[in-house]
Amino acid sequence: MRKPIIAGNWKMFKTVSEATAFFADVKGKAEVDGVEAVICAPYTTLPALVEAAKGTTIAIGAQNLHFEDNGAFTGEISGVMLKDLGVKYVIIGHSERRAYFAESDEIVNKKVHAAFKHGLTPIVCVGEKLEEREAEQTKDVCKVQTEAAFQGISAAQAVEVVIAYEPIWAIGTGKSSTSADAEDVIAYIRSVVAGLYDAATAEAVRIQYGGSVKPNNVAEYLGQPNIDGALVGGASLEAASFIELARGAK
Ligand code: G3H
Repeated sequence: MRKPIIAGNWKMFKTVSEATAFFADVKGKAEVDGVEAVICAPYTTLPALVEAAKGTTIAIGAQNLHFEDNGAFTGEISGVMLKDLGVKYVIIGHSERRAYFAESDEIVNKKVHAAFKHGLTPIVCVGEKLEEREAEQTKDVCKVQTEAAFQGISAAQAVEVVIAYEPIWAIGTGKSSTSADAEDVIAYIRSVVAGLYDAATAEAVRIQYGGSVKPNNVAEYLGQPNIDGALVGGASLEAASFIELARGAK
């Protein structure tokens, strides 16, 4: 049985004081039996959030990491540093990183390896652009991205990976994929994982949908047999909304 996982991706929003105020508001209320709630926050807020999350069931994640442990990489943060902070999750290969920071499939794969090297759980994002969808390439794109991300990852590691299927045209646009379409693609992604490993591994991997998920549609996505959670941007920024998302995932 896969545990539903609701992960907020705050992107480049919130100061330390805003983050700690948010956490105080969701503490207890977004802790829902049988649902894993995660907040993926800006680096600057992580120490305060990790401290605030102690003794709660809410996990804290980063939104990126560098694949090297250390070195002359100005402005970068490594898995060593995140692990040292007590961070549990790290988003890898978000479409915004792929588009604005030139993250290739190869870099995404290196980052997945770096996450495991340091005991971090990767949330690996895959998904097609609008023109790829219109050209009926959605599944091909997801296959290529998934296979690349998992290259060299053992089955024992693979079961820990969270995949987030995010059709790029649905991110922050208010245009969400229908739950049936999302289910179709996510079931396909699961079959790709089965092809890489085996049916048992594929059954264990959690796959989220992301793209304009809101409190009023989260239950519909989670009601689909292959959708195990949501990666949520905009609607994760308000405490009341994040609480509703966690509750709606049950
Ligand atoms: O990582 C989250 C996604 O980019 C979705 O963002 O919920 O604002 O559409 P959104």
